[in-house]
Amino acid sequence: MTVRNIVLFGPPGSGKGTRAKIISKLYGIPVITTGDILRSAARNQTDLGIVAQGYMERGDLVPDQVVNSLVRERLSQPDVAQGFILDGYPRSEEQAKALDQILRDLGISLTHIIHVVLDDETIIERLSKRRSCPKCGSVYHLVSAPPKKDEVCDQCGSKLVQREDDKEEVIRNRLKVYHEQTAPLSDYYNRAGKLVQVNGDGTVDEVRERVEDAL
Ligand code: AP5
Repeated sequence: MTVRNIVLFGPPGSGKGTRAKIISKLYGIPVITTGDILRSAARNQTDLGIVAQGYMERGDLVPDQVVNSLVRERLSQPDVAQGFILDGYPRSEEQAKALDQILRDLGISLTHIIHVVLDDETIIERLSKRRSCPKCGSVYHLVSAPPKKDEVCDQCGSKLVQREDDKEEVIRNRLKVYHEQTAPLSDYYNRAGKLVQVNGDGTVDEVRERVEDAL
């Protein structure tokens, strides 16, 4: 079986999570979404969650050492042996260097680095209409991927919620942080010759085809 160790990065709301789930189903490899791990920790008020909560509510990056150590721990689990998808990590050159070190220590290497690109106005439209299931993590969009029953999760029947950081002023800060700290990663990975850029515009099926081509 071909091992696929994938990094998926791009602006907030560009559809990384949607794409990661598709790739996960296609190749049977786990998705590691740092945002989900941090949100779950914040909900459960663990030590990690208490540290992360304020940064996330403002749309700022959680400190590198916190995120780097949770990724190191997760990549040490046996279920990543056939591959993994890192969704939303790394988000800065410091994190990319830390990931290089983690991978060296674990004796593995990245096979694909996918940069999803999308313009800011489309992102604001997508995120302001996103609804998520707090119980099973399913994601909907009120127009492009609505639930069958208004505000209710198709998968588990829970009431859907709007993420705290999907309010417009927080989205704008997340975009600013993305442009300042995460977008420069495309130069970092381009130098390593592994970067593929994927246009995040278009329907979910169109973007899925582009990602499948990239892999
Ligand atoms: P995180 O949870 O990772 O959020 P994000 O990167 O901002 O990305 P999103 O989850 O908002 O969007 P997405 O790209 O996955 O889009 P989705 O598929 O949902 O991080 C949250 C916070 O955690 C950060 O701000 C930070 O504080 C912290 N954090 C996380 N990682 C960190 C790290 N490494 N270092 C430090 N801090 C970290 O799609 C969006 C919407 O569009 C959905 O409604 C979807 O249905 C819809 N949609 C998707 N594709 C399409 C399409 N093609 N057409 C129409 N609609 C579509």
